Parts: sequence; structure tokens; C-alpha cells
Amino acid sequence: MLNRRTFLQSSLFTSASIFIKKTVIGAASPKKRNKPLVISTWEPNVTANAEAWKILGKGGKAIDAVEAGVQIPEANPHDQSVGYGGLPDRDGKVTLDACIMDETGNCGGVVFLEYIVHPIKVARLVMDKTPHVLLAGEGALQFALENGFKKENLLTPESEKAWKDWLKTSKYDPMTIPKLLQEKDLKDGRGQQHNHDTIGMIALDEAGNLSGACTTSGMAYKMRGRVGDSPIIGAGLFVDNEVGAATSTGVGEEVIRICGSHTVVEYMRMGLSPDEACKKTVERIAKKRGDKANDLQVGFIAVNTNGDIGGYALQKGFTYAVQTTEGSKVYHSKSMF
Ligand code: GLY
Repeated sequence: MLNRRTFLQSSLFTSASIFIKKTVIGAASPKKRNKPLVISTWEPNVTANAEAWKILGKGGKAIDAVEAGVQIPEANPHDQSVGYGGLPDRDGKVTLDACIMDETGNCGGVVFLEYIVHPIKVARLVMDKTPHVLLAGEGALQFALENGFKKENLLTPESEKAWKDWLKTSKYDPMTIPKLLQEKDLKDGRGQQHNHDTIGMIALDEAGNLSGACTTSGMAYKMRGRVGDSPIIGAGLFVDNEVGAATSTGVGEEVIRICGSHTVVEYMRMGLSPDEACKKTVERIAKKRGDKANDLQVGFIAVNTNGDIGGYALQKGFTYAVQTTEGSKVYHSKSMF
């Protein structure tokens, strides 16, 4: 299995780079970018960006690009934080959350959805076909099945094994489990395999329209029924075509508490750059949580209407991937700690 480091190396040298003219790893110094562009949380999502680029590069719509792009990690059985193969809740069930938002403020989401590989497609249908914004649990599943989706087992042998290992102690600490898993991975030489890996993606299309999508299996071994920030418009994702868009990854409870992505967009409305807006928002979490923030990870990425990009996180280790007409880049985010 590819860890994050080998994954990135392979993205440099293999056919995965067909859609990636140039991949550079560098310190974050985002400059003004031409339309179109796509940005995603976490470095392995260069492949998700490449999928989105198939639409954006041909002058397609941002909303279609983000919906297509995030389906890459949703379908990847080795991505244990999103879609098929996601780590289950503490009862061994994989439950998924996702949302999508376009340039007009149309949006849709699903929470606590089981058995469906692509929750983002269901979220898009909630947006397009219903007068509602969010569908939950059994109702969301019923809606998906009525619209032709198939029920599938999302628990891979790899994730089932991880859950059974966790059951040996059953220590309920979902807020810091990603950090502990990450430390273990680094010790085992597996890179950042378990760094929390929700994909939030934002695209700015040729026509100058912004859209975003966010999808996750949520926290590993969470309480049954727990829902994080990712499917909540304003928390895990927010788009305002007059200002910009933002999305988040990490401990969802912290993001919900401050309406994180909406806060980032409002800071941009006040004139801050995407980088500064993400930083201010992370600082707000840190101020509210005091010492508790030392053990939590939250990261934001943002784009404004000029195509300027930015990101910022509480802890080191957060990365984000960007694709523009100049190629693909991975940024190592600045962080508070
Ligand atoms: N940010 C994903 C979650 O907390 O579920």
C-alpha cells in the first residue's frame, strides 16, 4: 500500500501525472493564480484534483468538477477517512457525511449515510432534486436507493482489522485518535497514513464561478450517530461567489463550534487574503479551546474570487494540493504549533 510519501513520489513519476504537468513540493507561498483552479485538502488528493481538472480544463463548471473530483478518494479502499474503506464507528459500521455547494448558494448534503460508496453524488441530488439541504441516515439511504444507487458493504478487511485492533482496548478518544495513529505510522515508517483525511475541494472555473465539495467517513471509532463538520454548510464548507470559498479537515466539533468555513469566508469579505483568513479562523479555535487545542488538528483551505489560495492549520503536517493551468503543486501548510 502506498503511504503518503511514496504516493507523492509516484505521483511525480507515474502515469498518474498524465493530467499533472508539474508537481512541486514547497513551502506555502501562494501567488495569484489564473482561472481555472482546483484546491483540495491533503497531498494524496492530487489525483482528485486531476479528475476535477478533466472538467475544469475543458471549460466545464466548478460544481461538476468538485463532484467528480472527490469521488476519487470516496472510491479508494485504501483511503481510510473517506467513502469506501473508511474506518468505522465504534460499533463497526461505516457512516458517511458529505456536502456540496455551488456559486448561487444552492447546496445539498447527507449525514450518517450507510452503504453508499459515493455520498457526494447523493448530496448533489439532494441539492438538485429536493427543496431541502440535508438528508440523514435511513431517509438519506432511502432517497439514494430510490435514485438508483446500490447498497454496498463499505467495510474493507483492512478497516475491519483496524477496528478489531481498536476493540482490544476500546479507548474512546476519537478526538485524538488520528494523532495517535499518525504517531504510530511515523514510528512504523508508514508516513502519515492516518492523518485525518477528509477531502474538502474548491474549484474556480473558467467562467469565474466557485463551488465546493466535502466528504468523509468522519472520526475513526466515533459514537454511533456522531456527525462532524464535513456535511454542514458553513462549517465544513462554504461558498460565496462574491467573496470566496473555504473548506476544512480535522476535528469537526471544533469547526462546527465556530462555523469555521463561513468564518474564513467572512474574514475574506473583510479584505483578508485566503491565507490570513484561514489563520485568523484557526486562531479563533485555539483561543476558545485553550490548552485542549494542543492535541487537536484542524486545517482550512480557501480561495478568493481572484483565484488567490491559502491554508492554515493548528498542527504541523497539514498539506493541500492545487492544480492550475501551470500544473500541480502540494503545499505544506503553515500552522500554529
Ligand atoms: N472533519 C471531519 C469530521 O470531523 O468528521
